[in-house]
Amino acid sequence: MAHFPAQRPRRLRRTPALRRLVAETRLHPADLILPVFVREGLTEPAPISSMPSVVQHTEQTLLQAAEEAAALGLGGLMLFGIPAQRDATGSAGLDPEGILNRSIRAVKDTVGQSLPVMSDLCLDEFTDHGHCGVLDDAGEVDNDRTLELYAQMAVVQAASGADVVAPSGMMDGQVAVIRQALDEAGHHQVPILAYAAKYASAFYGPFREAVDSQLTGDRRQYQMDAPNRAEAVKEVELDLAEGADMVMVKPATAYLDILSDVAEIADVPVAAYQVSGEYAMIEAAAAQGWVDRRAVVLETLTAIRRAGATSVLTYYAAEAARWLREDLAPEPPVQHRSSVEQPEYPRTADRADDSGFPPVS
Ligand code: PBG
Repeated sequence: MAHFPAQRPRRLRRTPALRRLVAETRLHPADLILPVFVREGLTEPAPISSMPSVVQHTEQTLLQAAEEAAALGLGGLMLFGIPAQRDATGSAGLDPEGILNRSIRAVKDTVGQSLPVMSDLCLDEFTDHGHCGVLDDAGEVDNDRTLELYAQMAVVQAASGADVVAPSGMMDGQVAVIRQALDEAGHHQVPILAYAAKYASAFYGPFREAVDSQLTGDRRQYQMDAPNRAEAVKEVELDLAEGADMVMVKPATAYLDILSDVAEIADVPVAAYQVSGEYAMIEAAAAQGWVDRRAVVLETLTAIRRAGATSVLTYYAAEAARWLREDLAPEPPVQHRSSVEQPEYPRTADRADDSGFPPVS
């Protein structure tokens, strides 16, 4: 009689080393993109109460965060600027000397080519009404007038040195208009990371504090509606047809079905954004001792990668990269049990580092 059960999937789960051998998904520091906030006029970094350990940076401390991100081998930085003055058209976002554009320059001067610097291409941090575009007479966001501003903003960001521009406003046609403006200005080499399937989400709550948002009301007239799944595919197809070099799904954890669909159809890298509310919920539960913080963070990042993300934007990027390095830290020299004299191998520290991670300075 055949032994029962015939199949024993548990065999490959028996030891940590076997599980590591057969893991279908891995996390690497280069998969992680760190969103950072820089606020004009600050002299000290300002904590964000709903996002413990995340700060609004001064222009100086931003550079330290960028250096650290480069040393850790992160995939990139996503830069958000918070201006001292706002107006109806978000003009501080288009000013080459505005907080975001001058910070792009300063970060690029600091990290050079060692770290891709991405810039949020949106007006909401710069408008006095907090919307992602300009308003028409009826008080609604005017899609096509907003596109003109996005086109200018893209060129200013590229001229400031942005390695990637990331339009997050969910205006129709934004990728096409930005691509055309960049090309006409000679920035053919600057890729667009399109927030393609961005949902109107309550998970953005803490971000509103992070950027001191002026918004009253919501963004439901332009960001996607949570019940919709097929529409995300349409949004991504449109952005790809308009020339998106990478696409994003946002938020991440509650939208893994969307991410999976998008990864299925996209022939470009797919990013997912673990947003402020996702961060805040993990922090709150961990602070109570209700979940194991490190384990939950790595599990969520792994799940987001497993669903199909090539990159994950996460406020945990630097910390998670440190954990991943720790997990790979060289073991003490192996003690051979054989009594035969072992040849002298170079000690681990003398061998070339083959981890693929750049050295941490
Ligand atoms: C808009 C923008 C938002 C976020 C990133 N870009 C806010 C919004 O759309 O309301 C949210 C990110 C987060 O919650 O972590 N420029």
